[in-house]
Amino acid sequence: MGTTSLLWIGIGYLLGSIPFGLLLTRAVGVDIRTVGSGNIGTTNVLRTGNKGLAAATLLLDAGKGAVAVLLARQFGGVEASMLAGVAAFLGHCYPVWLGFKGGKGVATLLGVTLAAVPVAGVIALIVWAAGAALTRYSSVGGLLAAVAAPVAAALLGFAHSAIALALMAAVLVWKHRDNIARLRAGTESRIGAK
Ligand code: G3P
Repeated sequence: MGTTSLLWIGIGYLLGSIPFGLLLTRAVGVDIRTVGSGNIGTTNVLRTGNKGLAAATLLLDAGKGAVAVLLARQFGGVEASMLAGVAAFLGHCYPVWLGFKGGKGVATLLGVTLAAVPVAGVIALIVWAAGAALTRYSSVGGLLAAVAAPVAAALLGFAHSAIALALMAAVLVWKHRDNIARLRAGTESRIGAK
């Protein structure tokens, strides 16, 4: 792997590791890790009751993934862009600043997908919104979107992106293992519940 690739992996990781959910809630005097599921993502920020902060967390967590891909594509090329996207996703899920205990990756995966393969990103976004709205489980929407992203990229002919997105989806499913256990037990909290 060349120096350029390593540089974009580093930049992507650093961007992805910015814990926006934690920073935004801390700004209003809340440590999001002590709320609800303890996750630093949008769904848990919503549990604080602050919809504006939840929306900002969603946009910023997705945005950092998209920015990593777009910056790397502009200055490093297509291969660098996917490496940066995967690195941003991993930075979000495993940030060094929080002892590698980060988010579950849904928003960042959506942002990476939108920037890498926009049509696949829109499909994943629709699947995410529909899945969450129909079931009222945010985790179900995220899990379905994570599957939809690589499948859509593959069907659209973006093989390399599909492989990268499939790797991210596998990590995302792993990060949702507690949610999956709660869904199976019927104890997962629905959107809107505290
Ligand atoms: O994006 C995370 C979501 O899928 C689940 O979040 O807080 O319910 O574990 P949470």
